[in-house]
Amino acid sequence: MKKKRVGIVGATGIAGQQFIAALDRHPWLRVTRLAASERSAGKAYGDALRDDSSGQLRWWASPDVPQWCAGMNVENASELELGDLDLVFSAVESGPARELEPLYARELPVLSTASAFRYEDDVPLLLPGVNMEHAKLVKKQQKLRGWKGFILPQPNCTVTGLAVTLAPLHARFGLKRVSMVSMQGISGAGRSPGVAALDAIDNIVPYIPSEEEKVAVEARKLLGKLTARGIEDAAIKVSATCTRAPVLEGHTEAVSVELASKAEPRQAATAFRAAGRKMSALGLPSMPEQLIRVHDDPFRPQPRLDRDAGDGMTTSVGRIRKEPLFQHGLRYLLVSHNTKMGAAKGSILVAEYLIAKGFL
Ligand SMILES: NC(=O)c1ccc[n+]([C@@H]2O[C@H](COP(=O)([O-])OP(=O)(O)OC[C@H]3O[C@@H](n4cnc5c(N)ncnc54)[C@H](OP(=O)(O)O)[C@@H]3O)[C@@H](O)[C@H]2O)c1
Repeated sequence: MKKKRVGIVGATGIAGQQFIAALDRHPWLRVTRLAASERSAGKAYGDALRDDSSGQLRWWASPDVPQWCAGMNVENASELELGDLDLVFSAVESGPARELEPLYARELPVLSTASAFRYEDDVPLLLPGVNMEHAKLVKKQQKLRGWKGFILPQPNCTVTGLAVTLAPLHARFGLKRVSMVSMQGISGAGRSPGVAALDAIDNIVPYIPSEEEKVAVEARKLLGKLTARGIEDAAIKVSATCTRAPVLEGHTEAVSVELASKAEPRQAATAFRAAGRKMSALGLPSMPEQLIRVHDDPFRPQPRLDRDAGDGMTTSVGRIRKEPLFQHGLRYLLVSHNTKMGAAKGSILVAEYLIAKGFL
């Protein structure tokens, strides 16, 4: 297969760097253009990564900055040359995304980590193992907006692990109510402005603006059904409390669910273990061996031990037990990688799916 040519917008940020790391030697995709704000425009990528005042290299991903991109020119995102690209990955905040993404989508498919277009009726949110059949909605979006391309945002990184685990429970037992408390990694706030170490270390920050609303709305959309009229949200009540914890990467979530029918913890574990099998059959390069890994050890999952499972693409679940507050209740903990499955590599997996299914 001829590799698709990819532009990364917001390439200098935390999510942008994870795109570069995940696309290093990618078998289907090749990065040919990089873009960011005016601050970085015209610089070599390796120079744009340096802090303007201290000169410190602000590379976040692992391993080190790949050789092939260190000298690449960073373009101004608002003047990105689209002619020789096949698709764009956008990793900017929602303000610039609202302006920039339609400019690109007129010509090209745009896969975005930003929230700007997530709540529009003709915009699906795709999550492997959850709702890839919603992809068809991009055809309607193209028609309605008269675009050659489309905008396809990733869901919020906090709802990602939650929805990946709720989907098999919903399919097997039916979901009525969900209560979730998150302890989110600091990298989830990005660099601009990010969370100051002085506020985060030795602390729990009890509020993340807009996060709880995003989790509730996006969970219902992700678990909804695509009909001729569009996506019909799942009729599930979702209550989220989102906090920032002194962890670098990985969102840990304590989840309680009320199911429509009785389920033993071992039945839930069986449903979790079977998640993503249909997707796995497609042989996509970024699909992990297990979409959900179930731990029996009550001291797992932990962000430090489990965030990199499946190279950050596996959601780790443990402590599955009865929830006495609900009829047919269950509760569990999960850890999900916010900048890999929850952002860049998750978006790349969606792109691979779209290629395999002929959308790209
Ligand atoms: N971090 C996560 O875990 C995570 C997870 C899921 C989704 N997301 C989403 O991904 C997006 C990026 O987040 P991040 O954490 O990577 O943020 P970040 O580290 O702050 O990076 C922001 C990026 O956007 C660029 N940028 C800023 N203003 C711009 C403008 N006006 N025009 C063009 N580019 C501009 C920056 O370029 P300069 O370096 O030139 O300023 C930088 O490359 C956000 O929408 C965020 O919500 C993040």
